[in-house]
Amino acid sequence: MKTVLGIETTCDETAAAVVSVDPDGMPQIRSNEVLSQIAEHAVYGGVVPEIAARAHVEVLDRLVARALERAGTSLADLDGIAVAAGPGLIGGVLVGLVTAKTLSLVANKPLLAVNHLEAHALTARLTDGLDFPYLLLLASGGHTQLVAVRGVGDYVRLGGTIDDAIGEAFDKAAKLLGLGYPGGPAVERMAEDGDPERFALPRPMLGRRTADFSLSGLKTALRIEAERIAPLAERDVADLCAGFQAAVVDVVIDRARVALRGFSDVAGRPTALVAAGGVAANGAIRRALAALAGEAGLAFVAPPLALCGDNGAMIAWAGLERLRLGLVDDLTAPARPRWSL
Ligand code: KG4
Ligand code: ZN
Repeated sequence: MKTVLGIETTCDETAAAVVSVDPDGMPQIRSNEVLSQIAEHAVYGGVVPEIAARAHVEVLDRLVARALERAGTSLADLDGIAVAAGPGLIGGVLVGLVTAKTLSLVANKPLLAVNHLEAHALTARLTDGLDFPYLLLLASGGHTQLVAVRGVGDYVRLGGTIDDAIGEAFDKAAKLLGLGYPGGPAVERMAEDGDPERFALPRPMLGRRTADFSLSGLKTALRIEAERIAPLAERDVADLCAGFQAAVVDVVIDRARVALRGFSDVAGRPTALVAAGGVAANGAIRRALAALAGEAGLAFVAPPLALCGDNGAMIAWAGLERLRLGLVDDLTAPARPRWSL
């Protein structure tokens, strides 16, 4: 059995987890500790990097201790220390990386410097034992990409956003409508009671031949509608949320359809359509992607909600995948605020 500790500090979640793989390759999440800083950032309407870094410093050592304790293991029993070395906010990344390097040095265990996006991309293998290759929609607050996942470290980008990430668009829509931070869950909740057809919002990039996204125009259209009918009653906000979410769903499905067509040229036939990243928590997007996958005769896989957002288990798992291939790092591993897949 191989056991790895995973540490995540790239944004506003401090997380530590222990994941094991038995000799048959069966993974087990033995602990998964997440401390969200949402409350600390909410008053500012978004993540404040300085506050995030400081908050990671304050809790990470205790969180690691708790993750080890809950897993019933100790540093000495680990086979590696995995950490998200980027992309993300540099202050937070440094906190996680320096902590992981120290543990690696003290316990004499291999360091696994993981790409945060790769960890999101590989989560479906942890939860569903998926085989390569698969088509991935990776959508979070900072990223939106459609990727052919061919293997560990082997990714072909089929499309991405040319302006805002999907999560960012949800966050901005929520801020505009006074729904607070983070926006995705708030907009989704309001949209449940809204009429998606009351406002005619645009579907940017629909019908384009490349699988790229553009979301800033949708956000602007939403603002114009909101200003036109201000002051907003609760019903207005619900209808605006429903209209916005429906537009995003249409865009996502159209873009994913284009990516599915392009997939075979670079990777053959996919084993599944996979959604990952915080936005994969959105029920409307999940349902629409599941329907698209069904149409294409593919399985649809999305991690359970707790593993959609940032967490330590996905970092530990990516570390295990890399360890299995001998892809270990040493203490010179850099913090990489920008790091594409
Ligand atoms: O992956 P994640 O936890 O952190 C990043 O790496 O960014 O994703 C957070 C993003 C936020 O923008 C948040 O608003 C969005 O995911 N999100 C959602 C939902 N839950 C979280 N977006 C739409 N619907 C949701 N239910
Ligand atoms: Zn993330």
